[in-house]
Amino acid sequence: MIGDLSRRAIHERELMDDPDADLDMLERTYRRFAIVNAVVSRRRRVYRREIRPRVARNSPVRVLDIGSGGADMARAIVHWAHRDGASVDVTALDLDPRAVSWARANDTGDAVHHRCASSSALADAGEKFDVVLSNHLLHHLDETDRAALLADSERLVAPGGVALHCDIERSRLAYASYDLGTALFARTVLAGSFIRADGLTSIRRSYTAAELVAVAPPGWHVERTFPARLALRHEQPA
Ligand SMILES: C[S@@+](CC[C@H](N)C(=O)[O-])C[C@H]1O[C@@H](n2cnc3c(N)ncnc32)[C@H](O)[C@@H]1O
Repeated sequence: MIGDLSRRAIHERELMDDPDADLDMLERTYRRFAIVNAVVSRRRRVYRREIRPRVARNSPVRVLDIGSGGADMARAIVHWAHRDGASVDVTALDLDPRAVSWARANDTGDAVHHRCASSSALADAGEKFDVVLSNHLLHHLDETDRAALLADSERLVAPGGVALHCDIERSRLAYASYDLGTALFARTVLAGSFIRADGLTSIRRSYTAAELVAVAPPGWHVERTFPARLALRHEQPA
């Protein structure tokens, strides 16, 4: 049953956020993020539109993925950039040490910098990136943390750079499609992970385009893309 999707279910917690979550299930969830993101997150589009055009001859494009989870986006960016002969310097950042240890242990290359810290710590240290990204992070955050993330992002983006926070758009169609799609794989590929349960909670917690527009600070714009994607975007003047 789809239930009431007329407002954000901000009081529903995702199972993976429980500090006592079963570690095997959590690690299987990090592993499976790569499949989910390959299907729904338009990662390649983000690379083509935001990163590749910023490739310069002499210096690598500095990319920060905030709330990187299993860091599949960071690894994919490195892979595509190497294939294009483009130089990138990619940092995968997550607050949760369980995510960072898993991502570090399951990264076969040494090109991604895996860091366990908050975006505020990096911004306070004056670090700068050409592209600041997140995927499926906005819906996790309460009002205070969302405002902090966006303020940090503005501080972290170098002149001429961009911040892009991508997430799901809440709708009955998105919920029903995810419900059906994941039910088909619940006993096989997704078994023993939080992907199905947390994905449905994520959709209930996520924004509609109008809700995101209403909370976007000045200088931030909302973009909608298929399938059921929203992005909050900020461009730093050069
Ligand atoms: C649903 S996961 C998304 C992971 C990954 N971006 C993806 O798309 O598969 C959200 C991640 O954000 C992390 N997170 C939540 N709040 C955060 C914050 N304020 N700063 C950095 N990471 C955060 C969580 O620890 C979790 O690993």
